[in-house]
Amino acid sequence: MSENVNQQSLPSHIAYIMDGNGRWAISRGLPRAAGHRAGVSAFKRVLSRTVERGVGVITFYVFSTENWKRPRHEVMALMGLLYEYLEREKEELMKMRVRFHVMGDLAPLSRRLKRKILEVENYTSGNPYLLNFALNYGGRDEIVAAVNRLISEGKTEVTKEDIDSALYTAGCPDPDLVVRTSGELRLSNFLTWQTAYSELYFTNTLWPDMTAADVDLAIDAYSKRKRRFGGA
Ligand code: FPP
Repeated sequence: MSENVNQQSLPSHIAYIMDGNGRWAISRGLPRAAGHRAGVSAFKRVLSRTVERGVGVITFYVFSTENWKRPRHEVMALMGLLYEYLEREKEELMKMRVRFHVMGDLAPLSRRLKRKILEVENYTSGNPYLLNFALNYGGRDEIVAAVNRLISEGKTEVTKEDIDSALYTAGCPDPDLVVRTSGELRLSNFLTWQTAYSELYFTNTLWPDMTAADVDLAIDAYSKRKRRFGGA
């Protein structure tokens, strides 16, 4: 039970791969966008429970660099949900004491969405909990961009620490736990560098069905793992 989990074994950073929105919708005879809408409700439940459990950094894979390949109307629906969420939930983020931060290349997003993102990032910037949205994000692109930045700064050789400091997650602990829903067993270009020693938790639950109890199950499973980081 979650009550018995030792506070020391709580993850400092959980990263969620929100998968299964499409299947959730199709199984109900609904358009995929309805699955994404239900996915936003699940996201709010998961965020709120994860913060309640005292996890300081929480990252969600919202939109990958590969997701542009989806039909235009689905991409538009996702961007619309994102805008709507930021517009409506700014105050809720303040109540939860959450700082909103986007990781990813914002260049292809609409000016309106970019403005909204910057507005909410600035508005929440003083809060202690960190909420990262991986948006137009790709793990390999992130590493390539980091190395190119270091080269442009004059480096001819780089260290792990140099790369750490040039990633979107600079200054942020690596994810202790990655949770992926919907039964898919892969990381899909998510936090490729940062997940080298992350514990992975897979559940068959489709993302829109995720509840606070499912967050507790993942954290409880994590607390029973023995992490060795390559040691004995
Ligand atoms: C994967 O499910 C999910 C996504 C590509 C998008 C996730 C985005 C959200 C839950 C909403 C984002 C907005 C906010 C405010 C958090 P899938 O569509 O690939 O599902 P499938 O594998 O069943 O087809």
